[in-house]
Amino acid sequence: MSFVSVRNVWQRYGDRSILERVSVTAEEGEFVSIVGASGCGKSTFLRMLLAEERPYKGEISIEGGATAVEPNRERGVVFQKYSVFPHLTVRDNLMAAEGFQTRFGRLRGAARKEAAARADQMLTRIGLSHVAQQFPASLSGGMQQRLAIGQALTAKPRILLLDEPFGALDPGTRLQMHDFLMELRDETNMTVFMVTHDLEEAFKLGDRVLVFDKPRWDPQDPNVIGATITYDFDARHGGMPHQDILDHFPSLAAG
Ligand SMILES: Nc1ncnc2c1ncn2[C@@H]1O[C@H](COP(=O)(O)OP(=O)(O)OP(=O)(O)O)[C@@H](O)[C@H]1O
Ligand SMILES: [Mg+2]
Repeated sequence: MSFVSVRNVWQRYGDRSILERVSVTAEEGEFVSIVGASGCGKSTFLRMLLAEERPYKGEISIEGGATAVEPNRERGVVFQKYSVFPHLTVRDNLMAAEGFQTRFGRLRGAARKEAAARADQMLTRIGLSHVAQQFPASLSGGMQQRLAIGQALTAKPRILLLDEPFGALDPGTRLQMHDFLMELRDETNMTVFMVTHDLEEAFKLGDRVLVFDKPRWDPQDPNVIGATITYDFDARHGGMPHQDILDHFPSLAAG
């Protein structure tokens, strides 16, 4: 039994088919990169993995469980746009992520102390101890995104969903974030699904690279047919496949 199992998943909005016949499995600890043209349904796929929305058809199960009906602690998420709270300090941003795990959203007494200790550990882990009392606006993009990742990791999710997490960062910061992410992954054995528009990043970080694309076009109405996984590259050897291979996937270049 696979850790994550997506079976014949379809999604549609109104009369538009976004995804169809999406089937894929992933093992625990695997890093799955996702690429594909803009608008082909990559974020939609992540939202379904997060259980933020339900598939129109099909099943998504974690360790053989039923399709989840709402997000839970097993799944953490980081988006391209910084999802941190601007009115809270860096440290309080991590404390807030802890608070969300309690029923009333507020921590007291011993629980608060433990949460504070965990927040401080996380600050060290993400390299932000020195700016703990600052507000996000005073941080660089890379620091804000490390904070967002720290928030997502506070709940110790077994699955981390990353939607173009480094898209807004400069190339140097991006490389630093790659190292950071690989370290985290080695430590935690998390299963990661990461959407990116950067092919090199997809192959560098991923064990696999999934390509989302429309399998065919209906010239009368492009909305009739949804996208699916048209290719599942083995990327464990690291680098990008030879250009000859990539030439067979024009949607990659467009992405
Ligand atoms: N809640 C929604 N209701 C209606 N249409 C939606 C909804 N969410 C997404 N869509 C549409 O579904 C299609 C797929 O969107 P999605 O955001 O998943 O694409 P994407 O592959 O992530 O694109 P990008 O690379 O630009 O982020 C788009 O045409 C989008 O407009
Ligand atoms: Mg998207």
